[in-house]
Amino acid sequence: KQDKRESLYVLSKWASQFFVDQLWESDEGKSIGLSYFKERGYREDIIRKFALGYSPDQWEALVNAAQKAGFQKEYLAEIGLAIQRDDKSMYDRFRGRVLFPIFNVTGRVIGFGGRTLKTDKKFPKYVNSPESEIYHKSDVLYGLSLAKKAIADADVCYLVEGYADVISMHQAGVENVVSSSGTSLTSGQIRLISRYTKNVIILYDGDAAGIKASLRGTDMLLEEGLNVKVLLFPDGHDPDSYVQKFGSSHFREYIDKHPEDFVFFKTNILLKDAGDDPVKRAGVIRDVVESIALIPDEIKVSLYIRRCSTLLDMEERILLSELNKMRISKA
Ligand code: GTP
Ligand code: MN
Ligand code: MN
Ligand code: MN
Ligand code: MN
Repeated sequence: KQDKRESLYVLSKWASQFFVDQLWESDEGKSIGLSYFKERGYREDIIRKFALGYSPDQWEALVNAAQKAGFQKEYLAEIGLAIQRDDKSMYDRFRGRVLFPIFNVTGRVIGFGGRTLKTDKKFPKYVNSPESEIYHKSDVLYGLSLAKKAIADADVCYLVEGYADVISMHQAGVENVVSSSGTSLTSGQIRLISRYTKNVIILYDGDAAGIKASLRGTDMLLEEGLNVKVLLFPDGHDPDSYVQKFGSSHFREYIDKHPEDFVFFKTNILLKDAGDDPVKRAGVIRDVVESIALIPDEIKVSLYIRRCSTLLDMEERILLSELNKMRISKA
């Protein structure tokens, strides 16, 4: 059993090297993959640091190379690098994509994210490795192995949506950053972060729909006792596009200046939606108090209640009684 896990790690590592070689050495990889990364503004040292790769636009490039190298086909299927046809033959999962290897906290390759280079909507933008014996999505944060020291040193962790955001931020000199890869945070991921810091700053992609959808997930960070700030980028930018458009020093200045406390941020965007409608405002008040009720530290709770009383234009006494009701019904 242990032997098998080790074999899966070795195979993943080998595949990662195969994709890196394709990117830097094959004609197709250089002209399509490497030039894609360069057009995005990635420097060569950063492309190497993240071991970015390219999968040839063929059905069996990796399958054939793996077989030649003596790997067992079943293992390729087991970590999802190959998919088995009805006749038991195998084909590559990643074809004609640029690849982002996913590392575990110790820096071993456990899976891949592959981005299409085509604009045709019938291809999903990203294809990811499936769950496997070495890859448990809910316990992985992209970039953590390269970020953990910087997170502990800075005592704060930036949380972003995408692979590209992590990479561009390293290029901008900000290394204390991880990505949840587009899904909402799990408690396992939150526990991983809290090994290194209790302070999180969420850098949202600048689309309103996405922000509202992620408010719920963010509440979980409060519940785990983390201090949460959030930051939005203008004009629909994400961290990657902001770095690439405005440059590293503007980016660093922007993220220094604009973090906002999550509870106040949430209060303000919900209030904006509610307008003067008393029923909606009552809903907002409950929603905000619900978030505050999750915070395990009583001093912080009391400070948040005081400030939100002003923001919500509602007496502290009422907010507190609402908070206590919620706690009783949860207990
Ligand atoms: P770029 O367009 O390359 O800059 O990617 P992005 O990281 O900005 O993508 P986006 O903001 O759309 O999505 C954020 C993250 O969600 C991505 O980095 C992926 O991890 C994940 N994601 C996005 N699209 C897909 C998809 O089609 N399938 C899956 N499984 N994951 C996706
Ligand atoms: Mn396991
Ligand atoms: Mn997005
Ligand atoms: Mn994005
Ligand atoms: Mn992006």
